[in-house]
Amino acid sequence: MIEYKAKKFKILEAERIAPGINRFVVEAPLIAKRAKPGQFIILRLHEHGERIPLTVADKDPERGTITIVAQEVGKTTKELGTYKAGDYILDLLGPLGQPTHLHNYGTVCVVAGGVGVAEAYPVTKGLKEAGNKVIAILGFRAKDYMFFVDKFQGIVDELIITTNDGSYGKKGFTTDGLKEVLDREKVDFVYTVGPTIMMKAGADLTKPYGVKTMASLAPIMLDGTGMCGVCRVTVGGEIKFACVDGPEFDAHQVDFDELMARLTLYKDLERISLEKWLQQMTRT
Ligand code: FAD
Ligand code: FES
Ligand code: MG
Repeated sequence: MIEYKAKKFKILEAERIAPGINRFVVEAPLIAKRAKPGQFIILRLHEHGERIPLTVADKDPERGTITIVAQEVGKTTKELGTYKAGDYILDLLGPLGQPTHLHNYGTVCVVAGGVGVAEAYPVTKGLKEAGNKVIAILGFRAKDYMFFVDKFQGIVDELIITTNDGSYGKKGFTTDGLKEVLDREKVDFVYTVGPTIMMKAGADLTKPYGVKTMASLAPIMLDGTGMCGVCRVTVGGEIKFACVDGPEFDAHQVDFDELMARLTLYKDLERISLEKWLQQMTRT
């Protein structure tokens, strides 16, 4: 398995930060120089690998590195989870997508769940630097799944943690935390990233309050440059390509049901691909 890793983008740090969630610091000086909050990369682990998008969760232009955080959900993210410091990623394309608009809105809620917490980090930092009062509402499955909390603590005005089982913070979902804030004070802007169902629930919640809400969508992507069309999403009745027009869109205009249906299009092939890889792993 290790043999076909071409020496291209060196992993300097590899760390499991929560069950099934891995953080990598990768040498990529040009991307580190240019990436802005909200942008992503597309990687290919090796010459037999598929292309998957991952958000640039942090960067250090002086060191020439970017940080990516990947949740193990299928073949490629699980295979990436076996990579260690000193291993190499074959292709890393980026930065891709439109950067987040970092305006001074006033009071902003950043609502993130699961691995979306890592994706929200650079945007949260950017919104704070733009002069906003930032309230972060981070949702995790349970206390043991929490990560990046200290990083958020250092930059936000208020941090609300929700866990599904109540093992830390408020018991429930990010929408419970968000509702509490919306009922308590005037919120000017909401940014949400995480599971599609969570973003849909967030959008349904903020709509009657009339709060502008942007969601960072994660449709299936291949080329990441607007050519293949697989990342198409419907926003306000119009077709958009999330890789070039997004990935962030007005959450009140997004057809989330279509997005969720499209995310399951290749489930059978993805399962077969994972099974084959696991068999190969147990043989080696
Ligand atoms: P598979 O078993 O192949 O797929 C599992 C599920 O993931 C699929 O059912 C499908 O819904 C989705 N998926 C599969 N292939 C792709 C693909 N090529 N592109 C997008 N989704 C796919 N995940 C993270 O853990 N961290 C991130 O920072 C992150 N950022 C993302 C940024 C963007 C702009 C997008 C579009 C997605 C992002 N994702 C992120 C999701 C990540 O790309 C998928 O979880 C990953 O591609 C799954 O690949 P797999 O082979 O491990 O799983
Ligand atoms: Fe191919 Fe967006 S990923 S058009
Ligand atoms: Mg896959």
